[in-house]
Amino acid sequence: MLKGKRFYLHTFGCQMNVNDSEHVASLLLKEGAVPAVSPDKSDLIIINTCAVREKSVKKLFSYLGRLKQQKERQGTLIVCLGCVAQLYREKLLKKFPYLDLVVGPPQYQSLPAALKALELEQQKKILTGWERRWVELPIKDEARESQVSAYVTIMEGCNNFCSYCVVPFTRGRERYRPMSSILTEVKDLATAGYLEIQLLGQNVNSYQDPETGHRLPELLKRISEVEGLEWIRFLTSHPKDFTLELAEAMATYPKICHQLHLPLQSGSNRILKKMNRGYTREEYLDKINLLKSRLPDISLSTDLIVGFPTETEDDFQQTLELVEKIQFTNIFSFRYSPRPLTAAAKMKDDVPEEVKIDRLIRLQSRQKEIQTALHRKLVGKTVRVLCLGRSKRGNLFCGRNEGYQVVNFSSNTDVAGKMIQVKITGSGPYSLQGEAVI
Ligand code: SAH
Ligand code: SF4
Ligand code: F3S
Repeated sequence: MLKGKRFYLHTFGCQMNVNDSEHVASLLLKEGAVPAVSPDKSDLIIINTCAVREKSVKKLFSYLGRLKQQKERQGTLIVCLGCVAQLYREKLLKKFPYLDLVVGPPQYQSLPAALKALELEQQKKILTGWERRWVELPIKDEARESQVSAYVTIMEGCNNFCSYCVVPFTRGRERYRPMSSILTEVKDLATAGYLEIQLLGQNVNSYQDPETGHRLPELLKRISEVEGLEWIRFLTSHPKDFTLELAEAMATYPKICHQLHLPLQSGSNRILKKMNRGYTREEYLDKINLLKSRLPDISLSTDLIVGFPTETEDDFQQTLELVEKIQFTNIFSFRYSPRPLTAAAKMKDDVPEEVKIDRLIRLQSRQKEIQTALHRKLVGKTVRVLCLGRSKRGNLFCGRNEGYQVVNFSSNTDVAGKMIQVKITGSGPYSLQGEAVI
């Protein structure tokens, strides 16, 4: 029934959502559906959504609003997946009555059946039940976004309940994927020619194999033994669960990139406590120092929130101070917005919007200077780069180095999909420029 149907998948949100969309595309391809070239030339539009900030939801609502016309004109089936689906459920159908299905992350395996039932019974459905066990959904290589670097989900959900965060309510409690299935997927990817693996989970440090009890360092060891792979990354790590053993694993197995995303959120102990993050700035710094001593070339990135309830200029200065001290290669910074069901939503959102904007601008412009200086230091050096394809502009190639910095470079031969040496010849705040060394 899905055979020959053209589907268009639109993904918002984090890497986990990108990987989920790859799973969903695989399910549909298996049923004989085909990818559509554009939304207006499709029979089925699937939107995978993100609820993490108010802005993400606003952006989605305006997108869904624009789909009404297409629904009326062409009768396209419209399916809403993801974190907004799980969080808003019936409310989403009330607001957008032309949606056909609302399916949360724990129910993706039921999507093909629900689509068939929809065609037969014309019945709208909301599938948002929780799942306690791990459900395996295989991915076809052609459903992956990249044929060089692959996402592999190792756990889902979060038990941390940071006071600002909606994720525990959209993804549920932590569930871990058996190490045996992870290794099977990774080996298949290596055989298919993938060079980089990014292990995904909201909270990868708490990974525990349900069959053997092995933790993340053991998983990293086993994956680094897989032949053919060049680079292994994992995200997201929680600072409170980042252990010495994990730092040792990063230092010991050469394929594990010397790169880590470690969300700090705030540099102020008072705010960290209100955020329920479970660490102090001193503890965070201790872990950074440990990492830098074991891996002197490590590239660090982080997430930061400005304008959390009661945040003062002094609290914000403490965030700036840590950013200065740590010298992250990249930061992802956000204005706080209250989210449904979270503990912080009960606090008064008392930092005025213009103050949040001002702090965000100051933080980002300081980081821009830091990045510019860090990038400049690489000019003249030759680094390994995984070429992800051609760059959007002109006839350059683009890729990333081990530190996950973007490199745009020229090459006389087609190096797409290859691991190569690139001599860095120039730099800017957001990327490096270079020439392939043959
Ligand atoms: N599991 C990951 C990712 C969580 S969501 C982690 O623990 O880091 C990604 C980022 O969005 C968070 O790190 C945080 O910086 C930001 N974020 C989450 N909730 C937010 C909110 N209510 N307002 C603003 N930013 C938020
Ligand atoms: Fe959200 Fe905190 Fe869990 Fe990350 S660790 S997903 S920020 S609750
Ligand atoms: Fe967004 Fe859900 Fe990811 S809320 S950040 S898509 S886990």
